[in-house]
Amino acid sequence: MAKTFPEGFLWGASTSAYQVEGAATTHGKKPSQQDVINKDNYQKYGFATAEIASDHYHHYKEDVALMKEMGFTAYRFSIAWSRVFPDGVGEVNEEGIQFYRDLIKELKDNGIEPIVTLYHYDLPWALVEKYDGWISRQVVEDFKYYAEYVINEFKNDVRYWTTINEQSIIVQYIDQKNFIPEKYQGNDQIRYQINHHMNLAHAIACKLVHELVPGGLVGAPLGYAPVYPLTSQPKDVLAMLNAEDLRNHYYTDIYFKGEYTKSAMIYLEEHGLAPVIEEGDMELIKEGTSDFLALNYYASECCKWCEDEGQGIRYNGVNRSGKKGDLSGFETHPGFYQMCKNPNLDTTDWDWAIDPTGLEYAFRDLYTRYGKPLMITENGFGAYDTLTEDGKVHDDYRIDYWTKHLQALKRAIDKGVEVLAFCPWSAVDLLSTSNGVKKRYGFVYVDRTDDDPKECKRIKKDSFYWYKDVIESNGGNL
Ligand code: BG6
Repeated sequence: MAKTFPEGFLWGASTSAYQVEGAATTHGKKPSQQDVINKDNYQKYGFATAEIASDHYHHYKEDVALMKEMGFTAYRFSIAWSRVFPDGVGEVNEEGIQFYRDLIKELKDNGIEPIVTLYHYDLPWALVEKYDGWISRQVVEDFKYYAEYVINEFKNDVRYWTTINEQSIIVQYIDQKNFIPEKYQGNDQIRYQINHHMNLAHAIACKLVHELVPGGLVGAPLGYAPVYPLTSQPKDVLAMLNAEDLRNHYYTDIYFKGEYTKSAMIYLEEHGLAPVIEEGDMELIKEGTSDFLALNYYASECCKWCEDEGQGIRYNGVNRSGKKGDLSGFETHPGFYQMCKNPNLDTTDWDWAIDPTGLEYAFRDLYTRYGKPLMITENGFGAYDTLTEDGKVHDDYRIDYWTKHLQALKRAIDKGVEVLAFCPWSAVDLLSTSNGVKKRYGFVYVDRTDDDPKECKRIKKDSFYWYKDVIESNGGNL
């Protein structure tokens, strides 16, 4: 077996626009739904807003220089739709698109391949006000308007495109990742309706990349956690099959087969949750083929059988406190499956199971299932970091997490899985989607707190130097 990763393997990291950029309502940008959701999180939980985030908008040159110093050959980031088209459609914000031209040029001048995500939870607020955002079919047309403009603009500079970030996570955590107007609260069918509209948008983006970008490659960046059965009781194993179908294959079958997973769709129909599918939708979805699948892998999940005793469906809880065990509940689909804690795995402070083998398992399984190349667009360890008095961050826990996940990725490659890139979360510290800035992920510490943005000074963590060595040896030193 080769000791190193394959030649040409892309090494980098990821961020998303509203979590890192700041300048949320300046320089011609108007709010996105995430700017609104995060303002609410600030009021409810004291988490930082997206107004300044990591101030990447003003630090992007410094950030790219840090990426270059680590030896990055790729950087995955998202474009904020509301920076390009502040009203969702209509007139382009010249200053906004210029920011991305400058960023992409800076990356390319430094030999870093841009991997662009078209949409990362941040729908222009104007479209929520106009027609309730992703709940309306109109959004698909407006997404096409935006995507076509951006893809055309960067068709000669960007080869790798990713479409809609984590549809699976949007369905599971609908309120956090998508603004839901009051009148739709508690209506679970819209989770799957929104997802259907996103499937159409994804297919359109795939077609556009294939039509417009010479040699362009496109795929979805999917939040993916393989599901294990709690025991080898046959019922638990069946529950695992059900959970895999509804939580994972329901998305991947769309991307690669252009169809909804049967058992999942039957379950949704039986419970009045299935999306309305119009004539021509499935044909369009079939035409929008993906070239690869990008995985955001943080953890595996576990489930058990659950009898239907009329207790009703519930979706995932969340841990807001950062104290282990504070997770507010498990997804339950009576008569289908119920998620539960895996007693075999340790977790982060936010109850995310730490499972490098799960990454190996997911990559093996997905490659056997679809035979398409894979890449990592997120993988990381959310933690409270401490800045020491002499200006250091000793994040050995994060180094340990990534070392083990990279070793697992290599084992999958050694078994024949085609892997294009490793872009973990995150290049620099940023605003967590659910826990503010105190939960950190980056190779680079951004000196700010939830209350005080300070100067957002950049400080290299121990993991920064570790990753530099990993990249330099093409993974050979792992
Ligand atoms: C992924 C998202 O789900 O997980 C990122 O794509 C997010 O946007 C990351 O930041 C980590 O989750 P959290 O809730 O800790 O920010």
